[in-house]
Amino acid sequence: MESTDPPGKTFNEREGSFLPFTLQISGTMSMSHKNMKILVIMGSPRKGNTTRIVEEIGNEMKKLGDVEISTINIRDIHLEQCRGCHVCFFKGEDSCPLKDDRPIIEEQLLHADGVIFASPNYVSSVPALFKNFIDRFAYAGHRPRFFHQRAMAIVTSAGPGGLSDAQHYISASLGAFGFRFVHTAGFLQPPFPIPESWQKDNQEKVRAAARIFFSACGASRLPAPTLREVMGFRIMQILLRKVMGTSLEKYYPSDCLYWKSHGGLDPGSYYFTGENVGIGKKITIRVLEPVIRWQINRILAGAISASEGR
Ligand SMILES: Cc1cc2nc3c(=O)[nH]c(=O)nc-3n(C[C@H](O)[C@H](O)[C@H](O)COP(=O)(O)O)c2cc1C
Repeated sequence: MESTDPPGKTFNEREGSFLPFTLQISGTMSMSHKNMKILVIMGSPRKGNTTRIVEEIGNEMKKLGDVEISTINIRDIHLEQCRGCHVCFFKGEDSCPLKDDRPIIEEQLLHADGVIFASPNYVSSVPALFKNFIDRFAYAGHRPRFFHQRAMAIVTSAGPGGLSDAQHYISASLGAFGFRFVHTAGFLQPPFPIPESWQKDNQEKVRAAARIFFSACGASRLPAPTLREVMGFRIMQILLRKVMGTSLEKYYPSDCLYWKSHGGLDPGSYYFTGENVGIGKKITIRVLEPVIRWQINRILAGAISASEGR
């Protein structure tokens, strides 16, 4: 463990600053976007390959414009283990019994122009440390919110086995929270020296990732939600509309309120950032929707009966 920070302390207690974990990178302006704020969520339990690759990407981004990069090393922050109480789903995240840095991290995420989620591949997924980070924000899967944050997944791995699974896990799970994934990249980086050809390949991927992410974070237009994300939105919309007024509504007060106040329950809406859902995705959803409705009706009928004790 490389952290020198006292365990159990919040950012506020550490003089209200991210300084112990912050890497400030700035350079010359070459785009209209002034001082781009990039947040790195580092999911490795150690300062190793993943940290180095992300630092290289940061240095490349610095060459492209005025970029400020802050890093949250999950291993260094006070983030308790999710206890599975479901309170964040049912009553809202403010009622979570765990009192730690989670709310302040959400603020940091919401204030970033772009978020780089970086992780080693651990058995086709992410380390438990990073998995817990994602679990602690699981309420955002019910009530998505990070629509203005462009995101990128960076994964390092000893070999190709499970690398794309880990990349996909990060972009699919966090994409459901609203993050607009514009790129994911996998790097072959075993814990021993690698041949020159691999190094060259990694360097090219570093430069490509920096270029793509810099331009996405500087663009004014929001990236469109994926078909999977639009589908997830419609499923939740149908589910909540059906649940309202039934005995199951008491399990979803926060979701119902959130979706209502964000216009998500309007049957004509396809995503929270509605206007950028293309016609192709809308038609696909319309074609698949009868099957989805049938499935939801079937599941809900049983769940409503069970919750009414019938
Ligand atoms: C517990 C553990 C599980 C791992 N699982 C895999 C794996 O399934 N496939 C793989 O190719 N590499 C695997 N690796 C290797 C790491 O993904 C790889 O060396 C990575 O670059 C380490 O990143 P780090 O230096 O930032 O910790 C594993 C390493 C550890 C410690």
